[in-house]
Amino acid sequence: MALDLIGLKKILYSRVNELPTLPVVIPKILLMMEDNRNDIKKLSTVIAYDPALVSKVLKVANSSYYGFPRKISEIERAVALLGFNMVKSLAISLGVLNTCAEPRSKAFFSETGLWFHSVAVATLTREINHTVLSSSKKDYLFVTALLHDIGKLIFDVYFSDLFERAIIDVENSGTYSLAASEKKIIGVDHGEVGALLLSRWNFPEEITTPVMYHHADSFPDEANRHDLAIIRIADALCQEFFFNSIDDVPEPAIVAEDLELLNMKSRDVQYLKNYLHDNKQPINSFFQSFYNL
Ligand SMILES: [Fe+2]
Ligand SMILES: [Fe+2]
Repeated sequence: MALDLIGLKKILYSRVNELPTLPVVIPKILLMMEDNRNDIKKLSTVIAYDPALVSKVLKVANSSYYGFPRKISEIERAVALLGFNMVKSLAISLGVLNTCAEPRSKAFFSETGLWFHSVAVATLTREINHTVLSSSKKDYLFVTALLHDIGKLIFDVYFSDLFERAIIDVENSGTYSLAASEKKIIGVDHGEVGALLLSRWNFPEEITTPVMYHHADSFPDEANRHDLAIIRIADALCQEFFFNSIDDVPEPAIVAEDLELLNMKSRDVQYLKNYLHDNKQPINSFFQSFYNL
């Protein structure tokens, strides 16, 4: 029998001890996301509590994606070069990735594919926000994009058989999306279950709401509607360039309403396609430094 969100919540929460726990510094950095004062010293001190996290952030900062000529060996220096919000986003994302990075060997689902897709969507989300929309705010969008499909990991761990059936179902049908298939077979989609996990980890609503609704037909929260549109456009464009999270399972196409909402024209979409085409290699190197830690 398919589950509803409350039923799923009960199952997940009854197995709460099995849910991955975030490194203790992550909630502290999350709190700093709401704080607009860019206190570099405070951020560096918080991250320094977790030496493993420090080295991971520095590894990404030194990747060829950024291409800085000299080696970055301190968090303060990374903040100066990458920006305060970027380092915060990286620290949070790397903390989550590390928490969830237990190797599993399912033929039907590749965790690597999921994170590769997520890194591509996050990179394109930043490009839409900074270049197309000329907005320097909302750096939490990078984290949102990176974690938008984290519900697939939860399905893979807790509902592996049903998830496999949902994937096979969509592969065979050739008509409906993975989210629709999950709804039919499991009862909820990966956006809803991902948001449930992130709420449990006390992520702010700006992040959990777009994750929750990224495959929904309607969206009740006007405040975060723009962010949802950005994530969905990036999600749709990435699949065109083989940045899919699951082979042969397509992500949904661009929704015209999202483009209208952001006032994006076809030339903007073309620009983003070119950007992805030209940046396959840098995105890959960012992913390598991010994932192979
Ligand atoms: Fe998704
Ligand atoms: Fe996605």
